Amino acid sequence: MKLSVIGCGYLGAVHAAAMASLGHDVVGIDIDEQKIRMLSDGEAPFFEPGLTELLEAGLTTGRLRFSSDPHDAEGADIHFLAVGTPQVKDGSAADLSFVDGAMDRLLSVLRPGDVVAGKSTVPVGTAARLAHVVNAVGATLAWNPEFLREGWAVKDTVSPDRVVIGVETDAVGAPTPRGIRAADLLKEVYSAPLSSGTPCIITDYATAELVKVAANAFLATKISFINAMAEIAEVTGADVTTLADAIGHDERIGRRFLGAGIGFGGGCLPKDIRAFAARAEELGRGASVDFLRSMDDINMRRRARAVHLVEEALGGSVFGRRVTVLGAAFKPHSDDVRDSPGLDVAARLHGLGAIVTVTDPAAIDNARKVSPQLSYVENRDDAIRDADAIVLVTEWDQYRRQLSAVHVASLTDGRVIVDGRNSFDPAEWRAAGFDYYGMGRP
Ligand code: UDX
Repeated sequence: MKLSVIGCGYLGAVHAAAMASLGHDVVGIDIDEQKIRMLSDGEAPFFEPGLTELLEAGLTTGRLRFSSDPHDAEGADIHFLAVGTPQVKDGSAADLSFVDGAMDRLLSVLRPGDVVAGKSTVPVGTAARLAHVVNAVGATLAWNPEFLREGWAVKDTVSPDRVVIGVETDAVGAPTPRGIRAADLLKEVYSAPLSSGTPCIITDYATAELVKVAANAFLATKISFINAMAEIAEVTGADVTTLADAIGHDERIGRRFLGAGIGFGGGCLPKDIRAFAARAEELGRGASVDFLRSMDDINMRRRARAVHLVEEALGGSVFGRRVTVLGAAFKPHSDDVRDSPGLDVAARLHGLGAIVTVTDPAAIDNARKVSPQLSYVENRDDAIRDADAIVLVTEWDQYRRQLSAVHVASLTDGRVIVDGRNSFDPAEWRAAGFDYYGMGRP
């Protein structure tokens, strides 16, 4: 099929390349000319395992191209809208200006019968509003949320857990003929994963929009729940990791996303739960998702807790002490530092007068732009040398699996390790002479 993808950020660039790999003829459009140049040269503008290979393959076969001219979207059967919806600067709602701007530009190329498929995460009600303008030119709107995780984006796009398609429905919630046609076209786009058993849910606009924010709200809640347990563990001497293992054996609960530590960050979960709460408030249902504010609070408290642990471990103050922070990305397998809990911890320690050195296998360039006051060292061992305390904030394999306590002891006389992701074995570090501090562990 002929597809256009409007917006070539994390979501759009991966979607465009993945759709080409499924055999479609794809043009990716973005107003950022530099990004278009990089993508056209087969270069991923961000760190995402497997993306470069997919770009190269698509560009070589000619099934994939990129352009900054919106008119190049003309002729596509389906136009995927994949622009960002960041948090507004002066509040917690979602900023829809990129969605509206992209839609305005797209309108001039839409032909009757075209389908516009929204992928961006939007406040519920946005699709119904956009449908009016799309319908006015004889095209049809569908909402097709994306659930990709950074670091696994290629896999999540090519073989998703589920495909959700929100279409126009009538007064009793049944898809209209126009809605059925849009759903059929989208099912054709995803025929490869669907034929291998991926569940497909056809629903109305509001449900499709809510599926995405509800999924992110649930994941954020799961993480904050275990972090709340960590807070209780800290005053009772319990071990939250053992607790998570034990409750995780219950299939109804499950162990995934019960990793207690310095909490969640990134370009999605924090802003999505805030936008959800703001939208619920507008809808007169703020009380229904009041708990999301508590989840946000718990999440932010864990950063403060990590800072406090470093202070405690260094005798009450970090002023003038050398602290090495392992990690800057908001999670491993990513160079993304948006709302990174680890980088925030590093900046707070710096603010308290610590001499902070940050290292990360992928995110140093991005981190430097956000927190230029910190000093960055590429080489892990050089970063650790002579540190008074070491703080793990991003559980990259380079630290979690490949860094032994004995090796660290050979690099520095400092004997403090603060494990912000509960990734290390406390016994190993204690045996090597370290004071080990975990999050919610004795
Ligand atoms: C998330 C959703 O998982 C994805 O479905 C959605 O499309 C976009 O938002 P992503 O932002 O890539 O994806 O990150 P995710 O893997 O969900 O991790 C989010 C944050 O939670 C990270 O900072 C991570 O370190 C933290 N986390 C995750 C925990 O603190 N504990 C856990 O157990 C799991």
